[in-house]
Amino acid sequence: MGHRGKFISFEGPDGAGKTSVLTTIQELLAPALGERLIVTREPGGDPIAEQIRSVILDRKNQAMDVRTEALLYAASRRQHVVSTILPALENGQLVLCDRFVDSSIAYQGAGRKIGEQSIAEINHFATQGLLPAKTIYFDIPVSVGLKRIAQHRDTKKIDRLDVETVDFHERVHAGYDRLINQNPDRYVVIDASQELDVVVAEALTAIQAVAPEYFE
Ligand SMILES: Nc1ncnc2c1ncn2[C@@H]1O[C@H](COP(=O)(O)OP(=O)(O)O)[C@@H](O)[C@H]1O
Ligand SMILES: [Mg+2]
Repeated sequence: MGHRGKFISFEGPDGAGKTSVLTTIQELLAPALGERLIVTREPGGDPIAEQIRSVILDRKNQAMDVRTEALLYAASRRQHVVSTILPALENGQLVLCDRFVDSSIAYQGAGRKIGEQSIAEINHFATQGLLPAKTIYFDIPVSVGLKRIAQHRDTKKIDRLDVETVDFHERVHAGYDRLINQNPDRYVVIDASQELDVVVAEALTAIQAVAPEYFE
């Protein structure tokens, strides 16, 4: 697609450090890039996408079917693409997005066992084939990611997580591994178990390599 901007997604398991790194990178790049930089995450501040997201997250909706959930994520993503990502790309902006289609393929497709191909298909409909120019993958063992999350959550410790939850995260991890193998040119893999400042530096290097026009 002939967009003038550049679209980069950040992917990886929970606790890998995506949000921490993106927050730091936004602070580091804002002075030089200003309005040319957009950091977003689904649902991306769009009111319609946020309403869809609140249905997914509502504790009252315990009976939600896994495919209903997958369709709602795709619907929310659709709105985010149309309201935020495509206009930014048409404006020539650098778009850094915390999670995109690959999260659904890994979490709903592999984690919830709906099937990666089905999730790819409904998301292709939702995005009309929009894909990031690069996907920066935060590689971390499941146990390390879960430990990081548990350390910053007082109410729940890692040993309270049941076997099914760990299994779920292992399936997600395996789903990501397949995506990396299927898309070797799109993926940049970073060792996210390193110190935060090292991960930030490696992510910045990857961004500058794929979007040098913003750093001239
Ligand atoms: N490189 C790192 N080393 C140690 N702890 C980290 C690192 N990156 C993030 N964390 C911590 O791990 C937790 C999860 O990080 P977060 O950025 O929310 O991950 P994600 O968005 O990928 O789920 C946070 O408490 C964060 O402070
Ligand atoms: Mg996060």
